[in-house]
Amino acid sequence: MAQRSQWGTRAGFIMAAVGSAVGLGNIWRFPYVAYENGGGAFFIPYLFALLTAGIPILIMEFTMGHKYRGSAPLSFFRMSGKKAEWIGWWGIFVSFVISTYYAVIIAWAMKYTVYSFNLKWGADTESFLFGDVLNLAETPGQIGGFVPGVVFPLLLVWAIAFVILIAGVKRGIELANRIFIPTLVVVFLMVVIRAVTLDGAMFGLDAFFKPDLTKLANPTVWVAAYGHIFFSLSIAFAIMITYSSYLPKKSDITNNAFITGFANSGFELLAGIGVFAALGFMATQANVAVADVATAGVGLAFVVFPEIINQMPGFNGLFGVLFFLSLVLAGLSSLISISETYIAGISDKFNISRQKSVFFGVGLAATVSLLFATRGGLFFLDAADYFINQFGVAAIGLVEVILIAWAFRKLSVFEKHANAISDIQLGAWWKICLGVITPLVLGYMMFGLLKVNILKQHVDSEGTVIGNYEGYSDSFIWTSGWSVAIFAIVMAIIFTLFKWKKNTLETSDYEED
Ligand code: ALA
Repeated sequence: MAQRSQWGTRAGFIMAAVGSAVGLGNIWRFPYVAYENGGGAFFIPYLFALLTAGIPILIMEFTMGHKYRGSAPLSFFRMSGKKAEWIGWWGIFVSFVISTYYAVIIAWAMKYTVYSFNLKWGADTESFLFGDVLNLAETPGQIGGFVPGVVFPLLLVWAIAFVILIAGVKRGIELANRIFIPTLVVVFLMVVIRAVTLDGAMFGLDAFFKPDLTKLANPTVWVAAYGHIFFSLSIAFAIMITYSSYLPKKSDITNNAFITGFANSGFELLAGIGVFAALGFMATQANVAVADVATAGVGLAFVVFPEIINQMPGFNGLFGVLFFLSLVLAGLSSLISISETYIAGISDKFNISRQKSVFFGVGLAATVSLLFATRGGLFFLDAADYFINQFGVAAIGLVEVILIAWAFRKLSVFEKHANAISDIQLGAWWKICLGVITPLVLGYMMFGLLKVNILKQHVDSEGTVIGNYEGYSDSFIWTSGWSVAIFAIVMAIIFTLFKWKKNTLETSDYEED
């Protein structure tokens, strides 16, 4: 087998890991999650989740990739054989699903970057998004044909990802991140500085940071913090194992994990400040409370922000370009890491070249992603995103820590491996976080999530029971939600059953336990 690819420099690896972590989740998910869950008080569960689950799991995944030097399934296989390999594939199929809709959001952001030049969305930004841009179907589940205006930028997103991925780890992924991440920081800082100097910005920041300590007694706030950290840090979906498998033998694991974790949170905090300052401005213009304009996800980026941009006192178009460009850059650097999981996995398992694997993996993901570029795309995207996050990413996090800590009993082995090459030494705290705290909190969380979804106890923002997630019909939830989460597990089992090519396993390029 060919020599495994490697990062060129330590900074290159950190840039790529940060590039993976900092993504759409930081800009459009975090500000609202924090605001909804207690504002300033949310930082307590958030930091707790970061320090007890986020960074400890990141250290664990970095150690695994570095030690076993393989894609996620190969690393798990080398750790404990086929009874562990499936977890790696599970992560890969979850990543596959995420990449198919993540690319679509980047495509929208690209369109909006161009629209910003002449504020093409007009005064009614909501009907522009759902009508002119998405041509949204009436009922969830209806496919309704392709939306050409989304298909073309989507193909462009995949073409960019393809070019970066085919160029390899060092000359493709590392180089792209070396360009994207510093650019993103500069561009986004300009957005934030402009936002905090807008009229009324302080009202937004006040709403964002004002702690509502009573919320801390509510378990959903803690669940939200844990759920967010997994997606945001790119952990428990095969990414960080894959990226760290390209590290040179002499690499600091623990320090790199702390740098990645804190850089991601720093960016997230910055995004919260920028977004809420802008919301404060908008609320002041409309003479309403910040609570009336605060929203999440699609609505925040593609309805509320265009409206804010419309109302800005000057350089409106420029602000728009910078904001949407930030989404594109943050999104692309994450998308390539998400796609790299299956490229590496296929290449390792079937012993095919990286090039072939990129053609196959990106080609298939791009084809599947077209479903989200149909008139019904947004509904499919919403359901897939919810189910794959809860019963994909968070579920893998739970299974991964329990099996590694308690079934395969590898924490001490990993601790020794990481300590031998890292500055910051792991101790009992790390094992307690992974072996006790995280399984307990995540186990509780998974139980609650299953209950709410199986018993259909979702509530809306007023507390009224709406049944399924977003009040969707049973058939839609089954065909577009549960089935997606189940698909990832079934495919993981099928791929584990395939035999490894002999020469992959003969490589003794890694350290046995
Ligand atoms: N970690 C990436 C994000 O936050 C996937 O969007």
